[in-house]
Amino acid sequence: MDSIVIHGGTELNGEIPIAGAKNACLALMPATLLSDEPLTLTNAPRLSDIKTMTELLQSLGAEVTKMQDGQVLAMSSHDLDNHVADYDIVRKMRASNLVLGPMLARLGHAVVSLPGGCAIGARPMDLHIHGLEALGAEIDLRDGYLHAKAPAGGLKGAQMELRFASVGATENILMAATLAKGTTVIKNAAREPEIVDLAQCLRKMGAQIEGEGTSTLTIQGVDSLHGATHPVVTDRIELGTYMLAPAITGGTVECLGGKLDLVASFAEKLHDAGIDVEETARGLKVSRRNGRVNAVNVTTEPFPGFPTDLQAQMMALLCTADGTSVLEETIFENRFMHAPELTRMGANIEVHGGHATVTGVKRLKGAPVMATDLRASVSLILAALAAEGETVVSRVYHLDRGYERLEQKLGACGARIERVKGA
Ligand code: EPZ
Repeated sequence: MDSIVIHGGTELNGEIPIAGAKNACLALMPATLLSDEPLTLTNAPRLSDIKTMTELLQSLGAEVTKMQDGQVLAMSSHDLDNHVADYDIVRKMRASNLVLGPMLARLGHAVVSLPGGCAIGARPMDLHIHGLEALGAEIDLRDGYLHAKAPAGGLKGAQMELRFASVGATENILMAATLAKGTTVIKNAAREPEIVDLAQCLRKMGAQIEGEGTSTLTIQGVDSLHGATHPVVTDRIELGTYMLAPAITGGTVECLGGKLDLVASFAEKLHDAGIDVEETARGLKVSRRNGRVNAVNVTTEPFPGFPTDLQAQMMALLCTADGTSVLEETIFENRFMHAPELTRMGANIEVHGGHATVTGVKRLKGAPVMATDLRASVSLILAALAAEGETVVSRVYHLDRGYERLEQKLGACGARIERVKGA
């Protein structure tokens, strides 16, 4: 397993290109299952999670061809010959469950392994199941797999309200509803930019959707969807992550392709912490306002609130702030796995249930630390950039799921960072 070695203490200056959104691409790729015509995605990120989704779609009989070094994905689901999403693939990546809605709508049946838990939580699928059952599906859990069947005449539109604005459940139900007979209304739908991107792509394929980005989605089912070409939206979580690099080290970094509306609440919180975010013609330029970082309190919420996927990274910044900050994680039940690792670097953090109290220290110190999940891993990288001395982050395969060419992007801004090939 590879490790990343960082010698901290260098201010970062320069520019970082932001890639297409992992979490948009992982929903856009299964959309190919809804049509027998080609769907092509451009601006696709080059990540191991995308490779996993590619393998899953190919296991179902879809064709996925990578072009332009993986930034273009040409897909076709003309000859689907399997409707089982295997446990071996699904357990690696929860987003594999996003083939359930499209397969149910297009084929009338689907067998998808329950993803099982992961480092950050139990990750149940009850909201996906109830939403698809509202469209007429019969779904049974047998030997760890969801066995789903649509009525003989196909799925039917329905009105529903989600108990929680689940991103994945909204995506599964939205995709299924595009081919259901009649009208579907989803209340308390997720509002994330990735949902907006998916709806825009589905509309290009001929779907009739209104309300994306609001809490109410209305879908008029159609008989079939045609092919399309669609650019993956910019990754707001990669963007937020790299905005924290100049924040935690000092210096000025321009995040190319960054758009303020993708990270509005995050940028507001950075401003309160003493970090300036300037919109430029090419993206977002970030630097400290007057040299110091102020303590701030953070509560994660569904979009447009502070993103849970930036909580670990923000904690790294607040470990070096003047004063005490409280971070409240309201979306996942176990998303402070980065705290004990940051503590090994000299951070002062107390975790009680869903709250973490962080008292800033003058300087973090490099140490050997271990990545546990995708966003926890990158929070350790950010801390290491500011820490005194050498940090070795092990198990960086977690990082490769969501950050392409991380060492190159940070190295180009002056970071002393290298990947060490593991056994
Ligand atoms: C998506 O996961 C993202 N993943 C996550 O990003 C992100 O953290 C999450 O949305 C919240 O924004 C992808 O888009 C591939 P949810 P998802 O359904 O859809 C509970 C990353 O780091 N819940 O909105 O799985 C669930 O347990 C990843 O890129 C149910 O109880 O998130 C969690 O506590 C991590 N029942 C909360 O809702 C359900 O049926 C949010 O889950 C579904 C979810």
